[in-house]
Amino acid sequence: MEQKMHDRIGAIHTRRYLLSALTILLLLPVVMTGCAKSADEGTWVIGFSQVTVKEPWRVVFNENLRAKALEYGDAVDLIVLDADDRTENQVEHIQIFISRQVDAILISPKEASGCSRAIQEATEAGIPVIVLDRDTTWKGYAAFIGASNLVIGRAAGTYAVQQLGGAGSAEGKIYEICGALASTPAQERRDGFHEVVGQEPGVVILGGLDGDWKLDQGKAIAQDALQIHRDIDIIYAHNDPMAYGAYQAAREMGVADRIRFLGIDGLPEEGAVWVRNGILAATFLYSTPGEAGLEIAIDILEGRREITPGERITLPTATITAENVTEFLKQDDPRP
Ligand code: FRU
Repeated sequence: MEQKMHDRIGAIHTRRYLLSALTILLLLPVVMTGCAKSADEGTWVIGFSQVTVKEPWRVVFNENLRAKALEYGDAVDLIVLDADDRTENQVEHIQIFISRQVDAILISPKEASGCSRAIQEATEAGIPVIVLDRDTTWKGYAAFIGASNLVIGRAAGTYAVQQLGGAGSAEGKIYEICGALASTPAQERRDGFHEVVGQEPGVVILGGLDGDWKLDQGKAIAQDALQIHRDIDIIYAHNDPMAYGAYQAAREMGVADRIRFLGIDGLPEEGAVWVRNGILAATFLYSTPGEAGLEIAIDILEGRREITPGERITLPTATITAENVTEFLKQDDPRP
């Protein structure tokens, strides 16, 4: 009885708060207490390792995931851990989840390698692992869920080519600011973009530095770039915060009006609003994968879905520009 209470308190405790790397240490005694596998009590314990909460997209991701978990009521105990942007913390998260014997693990990893071994260990321990948004080098996990970043990169390339005069006659200079290049979204957003724009002999792509998805780094890279290249037509950043940072740099230098800024994510409170306000020319929707991840985990646990190792579940994307942003924001607004 006391043990049960203890488990329950631990679960409630962990469900309510997103834990920083430091608090993991404090949490250890709680999550290590006894076996959490509680299917017989009708509760699935799901551990989620989130790479960071420093970026708005991650905060929305967690909110959506928590809201989904609440829909399951007492049937789901969700433990959300924040890795503070460090792979080693995510490895530790998985080790904690394995020793706690959670029923399933969700992870959105910082980079492609680094967590693979721990994910393999969890899988071999019989825990289904669902990888979200950034892929890993080891592909034996239960499922990967996210939008196709190659498709997004190509859509951004197609948009940029249109802006510069259309396929076959496009001309101009594009400056690219990459996300963390050790992660698959940055690699694929770059590759898809280059695949399309590379077919235009009149267009040059400059840059390609790693801004680690951060607004400040995007701004610093753009400040340097704009001093060297005074004639940039488009800045393509791999997410909206870096595109906004680049816009800030250009505005401070008095050149924002003649540059078009492209970002990715399309959060209603962020990128989409920046498109509506004319700051970004376009953003590309990158839906958060938490809700689908949790649903699939529960379907697997309840026998409604079989595991096909390495299966990919692709979320849709969309191009958001001044033409459709009002419609997009209306759809997202729950108010009547
Ligand atoms: C948030 C973020 C998003 C981006 C995604 C790529 O951490 O940088 O802005 O689309 O990660 O994994």
